[in-house]
Amino acid sequence: MLTGSYKTNPQSMFQDSFVQGQTLFKLDNVRVSFDGADALKDVNLQVGSGEIVFLTGVSGAGKTTLLNVLAGNIAPSGGKIYTSPSNFSVQVFQDLRLIERMTCRENLAFAYDPSIYKSKNEFKSDLEELAKILGISSRLDMKISDANGGLKQKVAIIRALLTRPNVFIADEPTSSLDFDNAKRLFDLLNIYNSKRKMTIIWASHNRELVQKFTGRIIHLDKGRLIHSGHACFI
Ligand SMILES: Nc1ncnc2c1ncn2[C@@H]1O[C@H](COP(=O)(O)OP(=O)(O)O)[C@@H](O)[C@H]1O
Ligand SMILES: [Mg+2]
Repeated sequence: MLTGSYKTNPQSMFQDSFVQGQTLFKLDNVRVSFDGADALKDVNLQVGSGEIVFLTGVSGAGKTTLLNVLAGNIAPSGGKIYTSPSNFSVQVFQDLRLIERMTCRENLAFAYDPSIYKSKNEFKSDLEELAKILGISSRLDMKISDANGGLKQKVAIIRALLTRPNVFIADEPTSSLDFDNAKRLFDLLNIYNSKRKMTIIWASHNRELVQKFTGRIIHLDKGRLIHSGHACFI
């Protein structure tokens, strides 16, 4: 039902996560075509609540397209997609969608939602805690136009987390980060995963990097999902 590697790997743990967690996404033979060319072909994938999934593949393999299908931004040209009604996803895009003339803090303020936070103070303390964990507290009043790539990436991630999503979908979130900062981000997301049951879907062309983290790795090759298994089994 899933991928070849899954069938040949009876020890694979991700089957358990389906049993424990509710299915958040189920893709059946999903195809996405752009101008007659297939960016995704026959993709079968199931993601359970509380999973950490890394999506790998070289540039052009279809990672961004798959994330956009999961987030509901692109409708499949063929096949079916099921999304759980309890899914409240937030997406961190490859282009970070920050407002350049505003400061980091001003960009983060857009995440404030009075239906989520009891008070502005509660929001502020979450914001400050996240900034501290990612090591950017002293740079919150810097304008985005003056920020380096790593700072921008962290602001985009914090803005996403401040909306308290149950699914976090990120496209190459560490492209401007060195290994220590990538690890720091992974540790932070892991805390959200275990404490708030946040499901994580993280795309990266850097397979060596994601193999250092704990989670399921799914691999796209020319639009086909050719591997799914836990990093420790690779
Ligand atoms: N909006 C689009 N219009 C036309 N072709 C696209 C579009 N988005 C992606 N593609 C094509 O689909 C394929 C997969 O792209 P993408 O999902 O961006 O891969 P990745 O994120 O792995 O680099 C590529 O061949 C790309 O050129
Ligand atoms: Mg991409």
